[in-house]
Amino acid sequence: MHVQAVTIVPLEVVARNIAAGSLCQQTGIPLGTQLDPPLVEFYYKNDDLGDPLLTRDRIRAMDLASDSRVDAIIGLTQAINGHLTDFFQRCQIILVDFKLEFGITAQGQLVLADEISPDTCRLWDQANPDPKGRILDKDRFRQDLGQVADAYQAVLERVLAQVKSN
Ligand code: TMP
Repeated sequence: MHVQAVTIVPLEVVARNIAAGSLCQQTGIPLGTQLDPPLVEFYYKNDDLGDPLLTRDRIRAMDLASDSRVDAIIGLTQAINGHLTDFFQRCQIILVDFKLEFGITAQGQLVLADEISPDTCRLWDQANPDPKGRILDKDRFRQDLGQVADAYQAVLERVLAQVKSN
């Protein structure tokens, strides 16, 4: 594994293709609503404050990132969302939403940092219409649905099969 040290931008960046989780809880948008265009949201990476939702104005006021950096993060997030959505579609998995973090390299380049996994994505089995049965991500743990490891294993197998077929 090649790793690169970065300074983490203190933002959790969430892309949402389909309404779920805190979006439904906070807005009343029904679970499963298609979001077109997808939402890109920012949360402050601060456990003491409960990772609150941010606005561009708040990001500027708190000096967390410049306007141009926020624009670059939005652009990268949209591009990553496009790649991941296509990839998971080939795995017969619906990419509902996911969280990203970004870092700045020693050369000043903005790069994707942190992990992308069923811990940080919502993934639904395309072939399963059951709202609980289709869940292949950490929501199985959050909602105490059981079979967490089985779901993660299913994602791994489909991802590996897709990677090998390329
Ligand atoms: P949310 O609906 O709870 O705001 O979560 C949106 C997405 O972000 C979901 O795929 C889970 C992911 N996420 C994390 O990876 N870490 C977190 O701390 C939170 C709150 C969400």
